[in-house]
Amino acid sequence: MAEIAVIGAGYVGLTTGACLSRLGHDVTIADIDISRVEALQRGEIPFLEPQLSEIVNSGIRSNNLKFVIGAENACENAEFSFLCLPTPPNEDGSTDLSFFQIGVEEISDLLPPNAVLINKSTVPVGTAASIKNQLQRADVAVISNPEFLAEGNAVNDFLKPSRIVIGAEAPEDAARVAELYAKLDTPILITGWESAELIKHTANAFLAMKLTFVNEIATLCEKTGADIQDVTMGIGYDPRIGPSYLNPGPGWGGSCFPKDSSSLAHIARNVGFDFTLLEHTINLNKQHVERTAAKIQDALPQDIPTRKIAAWGLTFKAGTDDLRSSPAIAVLSHVINNKNTIFAYDPTVTNDIVQIPEVHVETDPYVCVENADALVILTEWEDFKTLDMAKVAGKMRSLNLIDTRNLYQREEMEQLGFRYYGMGV
Ligand code: UGA
Repeated sequence: MAEIAVIGAGYVGLTTGACLSRLGHDVTIADIDISRVEALQRGEIPFLEPQLSEIVNSGIRSNNLKFVIGAENACENAEFSFLCLPTPPNEDGSTDLSFFQIGVEEISDLLPPNAVLINKSTVPVGTAASIKNQLQRADVAVISNPEFLAEGNAVNDFLKPSRIVIGAEAPEDAARVAELYAKLDTPILITGWESAELIKHTANAFLAMKLTFVNEIATLCEKTGADIQDVTMGIGYDPRIGPSYLNPGPGWGGSCFPKDSSSLAHIARNVGFDFTLLEHTINLNKQHVERTAAKIQDALPQDIPTRKIAAWGLTFKAGTDDLRSSPAIAVLSHVINNKNTIFAYDPTVTNDIVQIPEVHVETDPYVCVENADALVILTEWEDFKTLDMAKVAGKMRSLNLIDTRNLYQREEMEQLGFRYYGMGV
């Protein structure tokens, strides 16, 4: 089993390190955030991610998962060092690689002879080559090994992956990294650096485009009397299309799709390629968010001076506590005005983390809807389906239900007295 260092204890680093320890490797995860490292040493996970706590705590108990402050304390004895550092967007959509450059600078002299430096974070094509150049270490192999971990399903995605992509300069370097994953039963695709880097961006941009296409068709369904759920089922049976990522919503978001699609569009512009399809996808998603907000505005009673909007769901999708680039927040931002007051409920969100003064976060879904003029469903939490909608109807002032995730059945809601507005249904 290998000695592994993981630099960065965020979503990607923590999941990667913990799961590599589950595979039997000796893993040390480093971060510069002292309180985060201390909490992790006590087995406390800083975000919601199913199964991760159990894996981290069992790694700590069996002594093959450790947490340290500073990369230098992790990689000196590690044959493999994983870079799992933040790659935030710049204003123009390009990727800010400064965390990377600083990280590589810090460890370049510390890596043991013949070490392997593996990048897991999502970076623009060309980054592995520039890391190699910056390192100035002929003995150190640089690898691009992108992650395909969806929040809320990250442990599963790591331990039962659809594929592993290893971009390397030399096949023998790739073979050393492939060995780390030997226990996983999955195809391993070995490519050059540039292809591995582009695979990651392409996967996210393609999924974003698929969702935008579905959201556009949902709008067309509303205008033609078709039902998006029938349409997506009808196309999803075609194996060339596939049944997943066909649920319409308020727009796609999260910490990856918006950032990665903008980064890929920027890369294209940089090399003089007019990637209109991707640019349009990004713009259409913004328009879709605005269209969703307009749907709420239109459903609100127009003849009263102030209206209360109750919103269920604030995170960018169900199964996470992550609010980054949440379409729910984006939609609500468009309906903030002096006529509307907004109360929200989300199973994983409290008032102090939302930080939008106009959005008041309640901890009880029924209190949230009291005297509301509209209830908007923005995140597809399964928990919402088990709530008593008759009780909800009894508490609201005006029965408008805007269900941007198609969680409920129109007929059932109409029987309860709601005016029901779904997405493409
Ligand atoms: C995404 C990818 O799915 C992962 O494979 C990838 O590794 C990850 O980005 C990353 O780059 O790190 P994630 O951001 O966790 O994962 O979110 P997704 O589950 O893909 O959802 C993205 C957005 O699409 C959300 O706003 C979600 O609500 C929306 N969505 C998804 C829909 O509106 N409809 C669907 O049918 C599926």
